[in-house]
Amino acid sequence: MKTRVSDLFQIKYPIIQGGMVWVSGGKLAAAVSNAGGLGLVGAGSMKPDLLKHHLEKAQSLTSKPIGVNVPLLYEKAQEQIETALNCGIKIFFTSAGSPKKFTNFLKDKGCIVVHVTSSPDLALKCEEAGVHAVVAEGFEAGGHNGRDEITTMALIPQVKDALKIPLIAAGGIVDGRGMLAAFSLGADGIQMGTRFLMTKESSAHEKYKDLLIKSTPSSTKTLMKATVPVRMIENQFAKEIMQLEQSFHGEELKMKLNEHLGKFRAKNGMLEGDLDNGELEVGQAVSLIKSVPTVEEVFQELMTSYKAALEKLPRI
Ligand SMILES: Cc1cc2nc3c(=O)[nH]c(=O)nc-3n(C[C@H](O)[C@H](O)[C@H](O)COP(=O)(O)O)c2cc1C
Repeated sequence: MKTRVSDLFQIKYPIIQGGMVWVSGGKLAAAVSNAGGLGLVGAGSMKPDLLKHHLEKAQSLTSKPIGVNVPLLYEKAQEQIETALNCGIKIFFTSAGSPKKFTNFLKDKGCIVVHVTSSPDLALKCEEAGVHAVVAEGFEAGGHNGRDEITTMALIPQVKDALKIPLIAAGGIVDGRGMLAAFSLGADGIQMGTRFLMTKESSAHEKYKDLLIKSTPSSTKTLMKATVPVRMIENQFAKEIMQLEQSFHGEELKMKLNEHLGKFRAKNGMLEGDLDNGELEVGQAVSLIKSVPTVEEVFQELMTSYKAALEKLPRI
């Protein structure tokens, strides 16, 4: 499957495993790269020592390209970038911050830089900042969402029309049908989070994966729009957030949300399996997922369902 994205990273399939706090360590990233995609270690939840451990683990499990995702909203972003550079990482996906911040620095070091964005305007800023490609992530996506709430279907063609550089579509893609739709809209590659969270190699807690198997199309909500919007499962923690959002406004709401979120809600939920009190981030298309296969099996299923969907397209 040759596209500008497979060429950019020298990979067999233009399929990226998005960086995901608490669930995308070295084991998952290596499995995705071994299967022919590009695996990213999600640095967001890792202190530099742990990040080094996961990058070295990934490198010991594959000889294929491996990248790192660094959300720029955390204080330790610069340290994480330096750690990854010291480990010899040459592919950086930055997100949740300005693409201007590290792009030139990383390009000067010979790295490929991709920035994640959620609107056509911001995508243009990424191109102006000199990134090699953008991930355009629609509102269906798990984790942090864009404030403009633009869905993948509306976002991808508009980013395609605005940009010259390669475009990676994300948000709501979990099978070959979704991948075909993304390519039809103009994408050169896809990034999936939720589908890879639901694999044997992800470090999401087994209880969390079991819960997600039973999810329905309305199981997720995007909450905390006053601070950083996040798509998550509507569990007890989410209901408490909704209560706060009804009771408070402005600066007071922001303070209450930050207090309630505290430091380790996402870790408690996704890594440690506290399904009531933890923050459980996941994408809207999770209810399409009915099994927890290996990453290799995900790739096989993607190719099969892609071909089947392609053959079924009406012709004129
Ligand atoms: C549990 C979870 C954690 C995530 N954490 C991050 C992160 O740390 N950095 C980032 O850029 N994106 C993060 N994302 C977004 C993914 O990288 C990816 O773009 C998104 O999941 C794509 O949408 P999908 O979930 O519908 O596949 C996260 C997504 C999930 C589900």
